[in-house]
Amino acid sequence: MAFFPSLNLVARRLGMYRSGGKGAWLFLPTSSLARSRPGRLRPFHAAFSTSAGAQHSEEENIDHESSLGRAGISAFKRAVLARHSTKAFDAKREIADETLAAILALTLRCPTSFNVQPYTVTIVQSEDMKQKLAACMLGPNSARVLQAPVTAVFAADLDPVQLVPRVQSLERRKRGLPEAYLATLPFSVAFLAGKGHLAHAFKDLFTTAMSPLQPMPSVSTLEAWSYKNTAIAASWYMLSCSVHGLDTCPMEGFDGRRIMHELHIPASRYAIPLVVSTGFAMPLPSSSPERNEEAKKSPRFPPEAVVFKDQYGHAYKGISQL
Ligand SMILES: Cc1cc2nc3c(=O)[nH]c(=O)nc-3n(C[C@H](O)[C@H](O)[C@H](O)COP(=O)(O)O)c2cc1C
Repeated sequence: MAFFPSLNLVARRLGMYRSGGKGAWLFLPTSSLARSRPGRLRPFHAAFSTSAGAQHSEEENIDHESSLGRAGISAFKRAVLARHSTKAFDAKREIADETLAAILALTLRCPTSFNVQPYTVTIVQSEDMKQKLAACMLGPNSARVLQAPVTAVFAADLDPVQLVPRVQSLERRKRGLPEAYLATLPFSVAFLAGKGHLAHAFKDLFTTAMSPLQPMPSVSTLEAWSYKNTAIAASWYMLSCSVHGLDTCPMEGFDGRRIMHELHIPASRYAIPLVVSTGFAMPLPSSSPERNEEAKKSPRFPPEAVVFKDQYGHAYKGISQL
């Protein structure tokens, strides 16, 4: 069988290792193979850890000894709360080139599966291209593209195996990941994100059959895998915009085929999950800035309906509704 020379090989190539050569398989993601980086800042999610005493959502209650500190947490919180899907942009306000470059530099730091980076971002800024892109959008989304100084078009790579040689050479030079890991990368990526419906159906069948015996990777469709990675990049972009005082509107209401045609994105290789118009929101016609903020805020389900503790359906208590 071309895909599975042996179970051991498949598992090893996906980063699964047996402790002491026997016993349970362990799935070791790329990050665990990376060299440890002393002095690295604690990530934001540490603030939401479930360890005893850490169940607080307000920054005052957070142990920030090794984090970005109170100021960092509160800046992040402001950026998250300032973001909303902007329905009308101020067409008179431009974005400085340096600001956009800084936002994009931060966007490119988003995580991706095996560090494969299976996405591209095309920034549509010229009047001519804005008109063309607007013509591909559905309903009111056209007006957003026309008004906003910038629209970022996120494309998901549907042939990520092609990126693997570049990743291998990057990783070899920069992080010095083990050769054994790098050599098996094409196989791992092909397993999780290879082309072909038949191959996918076979992998799905195989992993489902093996799952009762030992943990197996969940094999999603190639499109789902690539969209997942690209959506994380788009989130990074939107939060970076927010930190820089810019407003965004993520949109899926468009004809992706037409967009790829107009922007010369190879349709044989990519799909468009998301387009994000970016700029400065038109102030709402309400009296005070506070009322403006409240009017922009979209509702959310109660935290207990979404966040669970230990098992599905067991509400995780103590989360504020922001
Ligand atoms: C994947 C995705 C697709 C979306 N598509 C559109 C869209 O086509 N047009 C639009 O006006 N808003 C779109 N939105 C914005 C959502 O309507 C909005 O995020 C949601 O109502 C919550 O509001 P908020 O973003 O202001 O918190 C989209 C959001 C996401 C995440």
